[in-house]
Amino acid sequence: MQRYWGAVEYDPAAGSIRLGGVDAAVLARSYGTPLVVLNEAEIRDRCRRYRQAFAAAGAHDARVIYAGKALCTVAVCQLMAEEGLGLDVVSGGELYTALAAGFPPERIVFHGNNKTEDELRRALEAGVGRIVVDNFNELDRLSRLAAGRGEPVPVLLRVVPGVEAHTHHYIQTGKQDTKFGFDIAGGQALAAVERVLARPRLNLMGLHCHIGSQIFDLEPYRLTVQRVFAFLAEVRERTGWTAEELDLGGGLGVRYVPEDRPPDIETLVQVLVDEARAAAARHGLPQPRLMVEPGRSIVGEAGVTLYTVGSIKRLEGVRTYVAVDGGMMENPRPALYGARYTALLAAGPGSVPAGQRRPETVAVVGRACESGDVLVPETVLPEPAEGDLIALLTTGAYTYSMASHYNKFPRPAVVMLDGSRARVIVERERYHDLIRGERPLRPRARVADRPTRAGRLARRFEPGPQDA
Ligand code: LLP
Repeated sequence: MQRYWGAVEYDPAAGSIRLGGVDAAVLARSYGTPLVVLNEAEIRDRCRRYRQAFAAAGAHDARVIYAGKALCTVAVCQLMAEEGLGLDVVSGGELYTALAAGFPPERIVFHGNNKTEDELRRALEAGVGRIVVDNFNELDRLSRLAAGRGEPVPVLLRVVPGVEAHTHHYIQTGKQDTKFGFDIAGGQALAAVERVLARPRLNLMGLHCHIGSQIFDLEPYRLTVQRVFAFLAEVRERTGWTAEELDLGGGLGVRYVPEDRPPDIETLVQVLVDEARAAAARHGLPQPRLMVEPGRSIVGEAGVTLYTVGSIKRLEGVRTYVAVDGGMMENPRPALYGARYTALLAAGPGSVPAGQRRPETVAVVGRACESGDVLVPETVLPEPAEGDLIALLTTGAYTYSMASHYNKFPRPAVVMLDGSRARVIVERERYHDLIRGERPLRPRARVADRPTRAGRLARRFEPGPQDA
């Protein structure tokens, strides 16, 4: 038995995959593929580890805020609420999902570089805990909305520390040239603090920064804390204001392939707490309450996507393409970032056990009409055959949440495993869902009412039991 992260086990002889002790083949049979499987215990464990790590480091008042962009569903929001986490939302849609889940609004932090007036109004009406002001336009937009309200609106200001985190440049956000936040080095951040302080309807609670995602090197975090505290010292000198809170964002990396060695949660937390204490002491500043916003490191490794192998194209001496029943539609990360994944293969029902097959170097590809739809460009699997099951590990974060309807493929179901019990938390979309909200150019009745073959076909796509 080979053990992987995220409670995934692989038996190479039988070629069977177990997710949290449950046979992947049974899940695939019960719920169909592609299927996103989340391990509830793994997610809860990571929530607890973050909270306990802060407590162990003596930062008892710290807040752990789950970054919903990694995976935001009603059930996931409820789980985060139960674990005592806050929730970072970045859109009216994520806010809506959180509120629909009954998530306590005062634990919601609202982010985004271009929140609309409507979104801000809804956030204020809901009573979200913090609004993270990203730029001057938003600052003014929010001030206008706050004017008519009783209590001042608690805000954080997003500042840019000018730190390069070593990660894909699309997901780097801490360096100066970024669309997010107020630049410290260029003086925007100081101007923003001054402007907020002049608005009595806004209550400046503290600062926020986020330097990037899938980060393995903790040095950029140290540097960030140092820069932010140096800035806080400058702000105190100029304005007398000191921060009650400091939100250091998310970004901790996870394992996608066995060679990946991300730092663990406890190490990150210790570094943040130590560095913040040292910096506060150095500048004679009060220690602000620390906040973090992990997304990927909470749900990433807890998710696996199951696929069924369909067509296989063997080009002798060139490459073998193994096509699965999903692709860039439910996981655009390989196409977008060149992201790497680990694939495991379980033999399909009645076929040769994986242990008796020869290893073959293959490319696992999707079925979108695009050559770039490659999930794993090169991996060794027991000679794949039609009907086999392929599991892609570490797909809990930024896969389902980034899924699209490209080529009009319905999005997969998401199930949550609680021990050996599986629960559907997002239903598989049906074809009908794909045209919901679409308006025909001509009344459909004109086609569907005809006693012709075209009419019969059109009627087949009416919502109903046949629409599976
Ligand atoms: N806080 C802020 C303000 C963020 O922008 C993000 C991620 C997080 C927290 C959570 O970061 P995490 O702990 O998950 O690394 N789609 C990309 C990742 C984009 C990250 C965006 N912001 C990917 O698939 O790699």
